[in-house]
Amino acid sequence: MCGIVGYVGTRPVVDILVNGLRRLEYRGYDSAGIAFCTPTGLRIVKEVGKVAQLEKKLIEVTTEAEQASAHLGIAHTRWATHGLPTEANAHPHVTRCGELALVHNGIIENYASIRKQLESHGTVFCSQTDTEALAHLIGAYYKGDLLAAVSQALKKVEGTYGIAVISARHPKEMVVARKGSPLVIGVGDQETIVASDVSAIVSHTRQVIYLQDGDIALITEEGPQIYTLDNASVHRPVAIVEWEIGAAEKGGYEHFMLKEIFEQPQALQNAIRGRLDISLGTAILSGLNMNPRELAAVQRLIIVACGTSLHAGMVGKYLFEGLASLPTDPEQAAEFRYCNPILGPNELVVALSQSGETADTLAAVRESIQKGALVAGLCNVVGSTIAREAGRGIYLHAGPEIGVASTKAFTAQVTVLLMLALKLGRCRRLSREEGLSLCQEIAAIPTLIEIVLKQAPCIEKIAAKYATVKNAFFIGRGILYPTALEGALKLKEISYIHAEGYQAAELKHGPITLLDEHFPVIALLNDIPGKEKTLGNVQECRARKAPIVGLVTEGDHEAEQVCDDVISLPRTTVYTAPVVTAVALQLFAYYVARARGCEIDQPRNLAKSVTVE
Ligand code: M6R
Repeated sequence: MCGIVGYVGTRPVVDILVNGLRRLEYRGYDSAGIAFCTPTGLRIVKEVGKVAQLEKKLIEVTTEAEQASAHLGIAHTRWATHGLPTEANAHPHVTRCGELALVHNGIIENYASIRKQLESHGTVFCSQTDTEALAHLIGAYYKGDLLAAVSQALKKVEGTYGIAVISARHPKEMVVARKGSPLVIGVGDQETIVASDVSAIVSHTRQVIYLQDGDIALITEEGPQIYTLDNASVHRPVAIVEWEIGAAEKGGYEHFMLKEIFEQPQALQNAIRGRLDISLGTAILSGLNMNPRELAAVQRLIIVACGTSLHAGMVGKYLFEGLASLPTDPEQAAEFRYCNPILGPNELVVALSQSGETADTLAAVRESIQKGALVAGLCNVVGSTIAREAGRGIYLHAGPEIGVASTKAFTAQVTVLLMLALKLGRCRRLSREEGLSLCQEIAAIPTLIEIVLKQAPCIEKIAAKYATVKNAFFIGRGILYPTALEGALKLKEISYIHAEGYQAAELKHGPITLLDEHFPVIALLNDIPGKEKTLGNVQECRARKAPIVGLVTEGDHEAEQVCDDVISLPRTTVYTAPVVTAVALQLFAYYVARARGCEIDQPRNLAKSVTVE
């Protein structure tokens, strides 16, 4: 969603901010802006569209001397919530005299009443945003102490925020604060960089401090001083970011999405490394912080997640029920949090989130903690809010995922859930031998993915054939049904083709009416139990002239015969089938979108991390 970068130090700030915004482009946005402090006051430049357009405008409207003189600044990429994507609505927002500038992620829920009150005292608003109300409120409280003014204003607002504020009167300081929207502080040598995401920081420093909800900080080139809104000093530890800057770059691939698809053997290797206990035939998941007795006492699992993570959670139901006989309910996080869930101490809520910042999943975590349930976070981003608040969990270790369409996070989530199912299964009914055999299946996953990736040229050809369709169904059965949903989501979000996933048997209860020779069905025909039945469903689709793209286990001629086009998959067990199938569907979606000339890494209207409800 929106991105924030801020800098105070000794180097010229403009390039640092613009490069930081570029690193955050993947989050999705529709306008961008920058404010920097010069000896003659704040300079504000905003533009609708991409960071490249903002950069062009900066060259047009500012001078080199102005840019060279500035060592303090803030910048923002906006994903519109309140008001259209226009220059006026873009951040930074400034107070009327132009002395103070603010960038904000999140939503100020009581902005309308704040605005009304300020307008009644003569404040003139220039935008339709909620953020401008906060900027003017800070301006109204300002009496020479920036930190105090921001604190006072934040006590009056309801909603969520990650903010950075600068003032022309304080050319060596910045104030930042967070509540419900991530903010990270990078501590460098005579410079401090602030961002909504570490990817904008790692090229400058690896030493970071994650602000917590309710924190406010005064930032200078020496680093941060962190307080509560009531002015009590607090200590937040310095963490070291482990991943290399190259991990967040395209490395020769045309898109991040393609790079991330091809990274999967390595990403999954990292997710699995050190977690399989061959002697006991179980998994080692120390972050869970639960011994076998505590794990055996869990009576029900609830998986809360959104989007692709929810699909991984739906696969999890088959894993936990099949391997650990543990009743499991995957729940869409937003629905879960508002349904007053019935939870207790024997229920384990697993929050699945690549970013660890998804607002609805975070709220579901908080509700579960309130209800006294055990909560575990399965996140990719280390130090993310869900990972921290859940208190226990398992990191995916898949490396940074930049493409808006989630790929390696899905396969890592399913693999980590499989390891968790193995561990829970061993505390219940799986023998050591069964556990050992599952360990071998899990260890083989990276190699199986490599085999699928070799199919890329063939998948590209098939994708070209279907690139002009308007609709598509993805069908699967049992453990492959959530994978069908995921295949449809991948296709629709990056190619803008209407696509839906169905249980194979469900088509004839209504959707089949839509099929004709222009409406392909992508059928998950892996040779695992249920395939024969799905073959029957495919015949029903063929009888309505629908072209069939079949994902078929290598050498399965019976399945090949019912398909117009075949994507060949390596033989797998039931439990590893979703991972290899998902990789093939990611490639299919990617090549269709590419053939259609779509903006693959930043699809329209989407954001990487959905930090609003
Ligand atoms: O970061 P999270 O895993 O919590 O994100 C959840 C969804 O927003 C995300 O999976 C989304 O559906 C992706 N665009 C799918 O590719």
